[in-house]
Amino acid sequence: MMKKIFAANWKLFKTPQETRDFFTSFKNLLSSSPSSGEIVFFPSAICLEAASISLKDSKISWGAQNCYIKAEGAFTGENSAQTVKSLGGQYILIGHSERRSLFLEKDEDTAEKVSFVQSLGLIPMLCIGETLQERESNKTVEVVARQLRQGLSRVQSGKPLVVAYEPVWAIGTGKVATAEQVAETHKSVFEILKSLGLEETPILYGGSVKADNAAGLINHPHVNGFLVGGASLDPESFIKITSV
Ligand code: PGA
Repeated sequence: MMKKIFAANWKLFKTPQETRDFFTSFKNLLSSSPSSGEIVFFPSAICLEAASISLKDSKISWGAQNCYIKAEGAFTGENSAQTVKSLGGQYILIGHSERRSLFLEKDEDTAEKVSFVQSLGLIPMLCIGETLQERESNKTVEVVARQLRQGLSRVQSGKPLVVAYEPVWAIGTGKVATAEQVAETHKSVFEILKSLGLEETPILYGGSVKADNAAGLINHPHVNGFLVGGASLDPESFIKITSV
């Protein structure tokens, strides 16, 4: 069975000091409540060094929420995946719905980032998901298929990759998708990945995952873990999710 992945997207929350405090408590909790899966944190860019120091010599992975498609250069305001790598990070989140809707990232941008991140030996976690309007007009499969086919158009098969399915209408809204909707869409995502020769890719669910709904979602085939926003900010709430 594929190992589960429990990922935390901290968005623009926490200072470096709050990051250090979080990891002190979280590592403590983890020692008495170990997870059978892999745990990955995505702190904001300014807190990555604090995370890197706190997580050194632990089994916990981490990465950045976004990156540019060059390692360095005259690109004011961007983040370097190469620097993430040099600090010991393993992952880069790509194409989160907030990047797509607020910062106008397109599928072509996600494709370039996936390719660049893989070329550095880091693991891209590509986020996909439909809006409420798209779901209500029965376009969910069409939308996720487009996001996957275009976003993975330059993927290097054989290199690690993770996909996170996050329905936009479930992110930060408290409206978690039903177990049936999750099972059905994850199956479609799996079929699309399989058609691309990428059936080994873990598929995470995200969107209002909390300690009290995680157990009901994790046991579906093709649900290989979670990407958690709000409920990952508190060590006690996230530890419960990592041990479902
Ligand atoms: P949420 O966010 O858990 O707060 O809904 C998930 C995400 O944006 O990745």
